[in-house]
Amino acid sequence: MQFRKLGRTNFEVGDIGYGAWGIGGTQWLGGTDDESLLALHRAIELGVNLIDTALAYGDGHSERLVGEVVRAAGRRIYVATKAPPKNRIWPAKSGTPIADVFPYDYLISSAEESLRNLRLETIDLLQLHVWTDEWVECDEWRRAFEDLKRSGKVQYVGVSATEHDPDSALAIMRTGLIDSVQAIYHIFAHTPEARLLPLAREMNIGILARVPLDEGALSGAVTESTTFPDGDFRAYYFRGADRKKQVVEHVDALRRDLGEGASLPDTALRFCLSHPAVSSVIPGMRSRRHVESNVALSDLGALPPGTLATLRRHAWDRNFYN
Ligand SMILES: NC(=O)c1ccc[n+]([C@@H]2O[C@H](COP(=O)([O-])OP(=O)(O)OC[C@H]3O[C@@H](n4cnc5c(N)ncnc54)[C@H](OP(=O)(O)O)[C@@H]3O)[C@@H](O)[C@H]2O)c1
Repeated sequence: MQFRKLGRTNFEVGDIGYGAWGIGGTQWLGGTDDESLLALHRAIELGVNLIDTALAYGDGHSERLVGEVVRAAGRRIYVATKAPPKNRIWPAKSGTPIADVFPYDYLISSAEESLRNLRLETIDLLQLHVWTDEWVECDEWRRAFEDLKRSGKVQYVGVSATEHDPDSALAIMRTGLIDSVQAIYHIFAHTPEARLLPLAREMNIGILARVPLDEGALSGAVTESTTFPDGDFRAYYFRGADRKKQVVEHVDALRRDLGEGASLPDTALRFCLSHPAVSSVIPGMRSRRHVESNVALSDLGALPPGTLATLRRHAWDRNFYN
C-alpha cells in the first residue's frame, strides 16, 4: 500500500481507502454483514487505513460495523464519517436556511451519535454530508466544527461536495477552515480537474475521490438486462432501459479504446490515483475478492500518460443522481 498525506492533517492515508456505503445494508441490497466484516478485515490486513462511512448509511449500521473492525484492528485506522442533513434532503437545495440542515446543536448531537455507533473516542474526520457555499458565512457550522475539535470528539473536518458539482465547495475551501473535500471523480466525470483539484493543491486540502466506479458502471458488469432489487439505490440510479443502454455504449467505447487485456475497474481506480491532488480513492467493496484486486493497484500507481490521454476522450457529462 502506498500512502499520501491527507492535506495538512498529520494523517498518512493509504491511497486505496474503503467506501462503506454499500455495507449499510439498506440502500445497497444483496450483501450480508458477515461478508462485509470479512471484506473490512481483509482490507485492513492488506494495509487499508482509511474508511469512509456515514451516519446515514443504514441509519448507523455501517458505522457500527466499521467501529467493530477498527476497534479490533490493533493499529491506527482513520475513520471518516458524515453528519447527515437534519432535513434528510440530498443534495442541499439552494435557498434552504442552514438552520433547517445543520443547526449548531444538531451537528454536535449528530457527531455524538456517530461516536456511540462507532464506539470510538474520537472521529478522525467529520464531513458534512451535503453542502452549498450559500452557507459559507454562517456561524453554525463554523462554531460546531470548532467546538467539536476543541472537545476532542473530532480531529479534522470536511465536506462532501454536491453530486457532479465540485465547484459547490470552492468557497468553503477558501475559508481555510476545512481539511478535506470528497467529490465524485472518475473516468466519466472529469469536472473536478478544472477548479476543485487545483484549489485543493493550492490550499493543501485532502481529497477523497468518491464513487470511482460510477456506482458499478465502470466495473463493466452493468448490461441492458441488469436488474437490481426493489429498494436498492442502483435500481434508481440505473433506472429505465435508456440509462443502461447509455452505460453499455460508453463502457463498450472505453473498452475498445483501452484494448484487449485492460481491466476496466483497475483502470478506473488508477485514473483517480493519477491525479496528485487525490489523497485517497474510496471504492465501495463488499467482497473480499474486490478488496484484494483493488488494494493491489496501489503499488501500480498512476496510469501511463498515453492511457490518461485516451481517457480524456471519455468524459461523459450527465447526472444519474437526478
Ligand atoms: N455524498 C457522499 O458523500 C457520497 C455519495 C456516494 C458515495 N460516497 C462514498 O464513496 C464510496 C464509493 O462509492 P460507492 O460505493 O457508492 O460506489 P463505487 O465505489 O463507484 O462502486 C461500488 C461498486 O463497485 C463494485 N466493485 C468494487 N471493486 C470492484 C472490482 N475490482 N471489480 C468489479 N466491481 C467492483 C462493488 O462491488 P461489491 O460491493 O459487491 O464488492 C460495488 O458494486 C461510498 O462507499 C461512500 O463511502 C459518498
